Amino acid sequence: MKNFNYQAGTKILFGKNKINELADEVLTYSDRVLITYGQGSVVKSGLLDAVKTKLRARDIHIEELGGIQPNPRLTSVKEGINICREKNIGFILAVGGGSIIDGSKAIAAGVDYKGDVWDFYARKAIPESAVPIGTILTLAATGSEMNGGSVITNDDTKEKLPINSELLKPKFSILDPTLTFSVNKWQTASGVVDIMSHIFEQYFTPDSGTELQDSLAEGILKTCIKYGPIVINEPENYEARANLMWASSLALNGLTGTGKMMGDWGTHMIEHEVSAIYDLTHGVGLAILFPNWMKFVLNERNAFKFVRLGKNVFGIDEGEDMAAATKTIDAIRSFFNSLHMPSKLSDVDIPAEHFKTMGEKACQFGPIGYFRRLNDAAVTEILEMSK
Ligand code: NZQ
Ligand code: ZN
Repeated sequence: MKNFNYQAGTKILFGKNKINELADEVLTYSDRVLITYGQGSVVKSGLLDAVKTKLRARDIHIEELGGIQPNPRLTSVKEGINICREKNIGFILAVGGGSIIDGSKAIAAGVDYKGDVWDFYARKAIPESAVPIGTILTLAATGSEMNGGSVITNDDTKEKLPINSELLKPKFSILDPTLTFSVNKWQTASGVVDIMSHIFEQYFTPDSGTELQDSLAEGILKTCIKYGPIVINEPENYEARANLMWASSLALNGLTGTGKMMGDWGTHMIEHEVSAIYDLTHGVGLAILFPNWMKFVLNERNAFKFVRLGKNVFGIDEGEDMAAATKTIDAIRSFFNSLHMPSKLSDVDIPAEHFKTMGEKACQFGPIGYFRRLNDAAVTEILEMSK
């Protein structure tokens, strides 16, 4: 295990009616708030009105930015930055899924920055200050509610790029599982795949001596495998929604990645290229790509890690290493299929046309991946395997 510093950073308020504590939390930071939200789910559910009522009751000034799209765009971010500057906003409250939270983090980072906020994503600058943000999570998937990551799409250049900064960790996140009851089957399943993929990215690394982290990772995977099918059939099953919501946060808040050099993240980088061009739901892209990444990187030296996963998570306990590893990958594919996730890019109407460009763009800052380094030709091959 490597040395590490770890600070979770985000206060979690978990459970039914935790929104009752919202105003106190917000007032710790400011009484001038920008509420950000998406394309209508929080209006329809009544959550937005409930939030505004709670804040107004405590004389908190509110500005709003709605309409943030899935795969959030730079244009919404710039709109948010302008509102914050013009209205002297001291706190940003993201109400929604990962896209809303990511967009809000970009706004937070951009307010004091003199240049173009895209500079952070293009690796030309690093955020040095940020407006504090808080979240009310409505979809269990990205972990953005408890980490410093933000992924933004630049429509002009068709790039979707990530940043990560301690400054962007939400100060608090309200996790009320009942707020996820209304998420449809497709988004719910995508969320489960995303959570599992975050675990895979940090599980498949060349590090050793991280038994605790790997066991925690397996526990989170087993939770997803147990409750994923239940929420698809019973969207209002509180226990299932609650377990998945907490799994979302724990899968990408640093917990399972500590003590390792870094995560792999190759599959995420590839998926971001696909969704940058085709606006695909993130978890759907991962469901298609991850088993193919696994097949591509598997070899006799690293097979033991797949064997361990197969044994501890899927109960696969037979055959020599390469055969057991392949069975494990097949079990992951079958599980994704059982959630009605597609297996091929052609299933979601994505042709092979831009595979080469995606490979080049994924590697624009150099080879990607840590479990196995991938150059642009390797990325293109994984996309070919996924077509
Ligand atoms: O826009 P609204 O109307 O709110 O509808 C959303 C959207 O259509 C809907 N939804 C959310 N909560 C709902 C709901 N519908 C009904 N009831 C509810 N309670 O779901 C749709 C998808 O929402 P979105 O926020 O896009 O989903 P998700 O949370 O999966 O976020 C995906 C984005 O996060 C990025 C992805 O790349 C993608 O852009 N990621 C961010 C990460 C991070 N910051 O750490 C890591 C991830 O790996 C990922 O890359
Ligand atoms: Zn993800």
